[in-house]
Amino acid sequence: MVRTLGLTQLTMIGVGAIIGAGIFSLAAAVAKDVAGPAVLISFLVAGAASLCAAFAYAEFAGMVPKAGSSYTYCAAVLGEIVGWIVGWDLLLEYTAIVAVVAIGMSGYLGFLLDAVGVQLPAWALGAPGTGAGHRIDLLAVVICLAVAWLLTRGTRTSARVETVLTIVKIAIVLLVIVVGLTKVHTGNLHPFAPFGLGGAFTGAATVFFAVFGYDALSTAAEESVEARSKLPKAMMLSLSISMVLYVLVCVVLTGMQRYSDLDPNSGISSAFASAGLSGLANVIAVGAVIGIVTVTFSFMMGASRLWYALSRDGLMPAWFGAIHPKRKVPHRATWTIGAVAAVLAGVLPINAVAELTNIGVLLAFMVVCASVLILRYRKPHLRRGFRCPGMPVVPVLGMLFSGWLMSFLQWETWVRLGAWLAVGLVVYATYGYRRTREVMPGGSVDLDALDEMTDGEEPEPGAERLPVR
Ligand code: ALA
Repeated sequence: MVRTLGLTQLTMIGVGAIIGAGIFSLAAAVAKDVAGPAVLISFLVAGAASLCAAFAYAEFAGMVPKAGSSYTYCAAVLGEIVGWIVGWDLLLEYTAIVAVVAIGMSGYLGFLLDAVGVQLPAWALGAPGTGAGHRIDLLAVVICLAVAWLLTRGTRTSARVETVLTIVKIAIVLLVIVVGLTKVHTGNLHPFAPFGLGGAFTGAATVFFAVFGYDALSTAAEESVEARSKLPKAMMLSLSISMVLYVLVCVVLTGMQRYSDLDPNSGISSAFASAGLSGLANVIAVGAVIGIVTVTFSFMMGASRLWYALSRDGLMPAWFGAIHPKRKVPHRATWTIGAVAAVLAGVLPINAVAELTNIGVLLAFMVVCASVLILRYRKPHLRRGFRCPGMPVVPVLGMLFSGWLMSFLQWETWVRLGAWLAVGLVVYATYGYRRTREVMPGGSVDLDALDEMTDGEEPEPGAERLPVR
């Protein structure tokens, strides 16, 4: 791999993976159902929690200038079984992200179809329980399968294409802010917290979905110039830029339309249409669909690479990790992820899938914060391009914040995560434990090898052909 990505491009990739369905779809749904205009507070709380974890991620990224997965880092520090749990957890999380983003895109696509007079039958309009006669979110299912198909063609969106799409997305968000601010009616912002502060915190656990994605940057580690210093900076910058934009969009969204009237499917476009700006509403819908597709690409690719890494290390059957001889992509893993995401997107409402994602990410964030903390004391002399400030307070805060946000998630979400982890432990006990010892007799992770590499050795260019997280 050639190290070509600089700070600007890396930041663009970060923003490309952060800004997506969270702001375009979940903000309106959360404002309407649980937070009102105080959805702004929800975003700030979620952003603060994410920032603590971002510091920890940045320290890891600055320590290992290699496209490694969080599962590898955690296994190195806390042991193979913890690494496996994180890997298994992230597998579900990344797949669920694809589903959430597909549901978000489906809402905006539906808005556009409506605008040109095409009406889908009621059964195809959403998951059961989301509206009268709804049976399945057909557009979301099609999007998941289409993205899987594209990725198995070997269509890897290059950094340049992603940069262009991200610029389109930022331009749309800026358009929303600049035009929207002129249409804000302060009366709509009262009462500010109709569901109380508790509502805003509950909302934070859902909109947390909007504030991660910078972790996807670690896939670019082997292609970055001065990865040790640039990656952590890009993580911080992309989160900060996204947070500023989010806060402004929240003001516009709840200021333009009364929170109770917001449309949870195509919130921003519908708010513009309600203010008499139908033409602009359509432009925003097109921009939303184009812009958030980058998130689907990043995470479906991330999930397939993670699956590839787990298979390579013997923790999952090699069958899944097989690389297509011609197209050079892990095609079976990609199709499996596409199919599972399609099922989730088809039959579950967006909030339920977003919660499932969030509980998984929050769990991974807790483990990453713990790993950074432990490693700082166990291996204080490792070369670090970025040091998490305020040790040990910041990672401890990151863990507490994550645990606190998890406590707001519905019990069904906990049951789903519990069931998934239980299956994971069975897979580990009956397959991975034995197989990984056959594939890698020395264990899949060696802290001292990490030590050596961080002591100055860059990974051999091209040594690992697929970027894994
Ligand atoms: N943060 C990403 C989004 O909002 C996952 O779509």
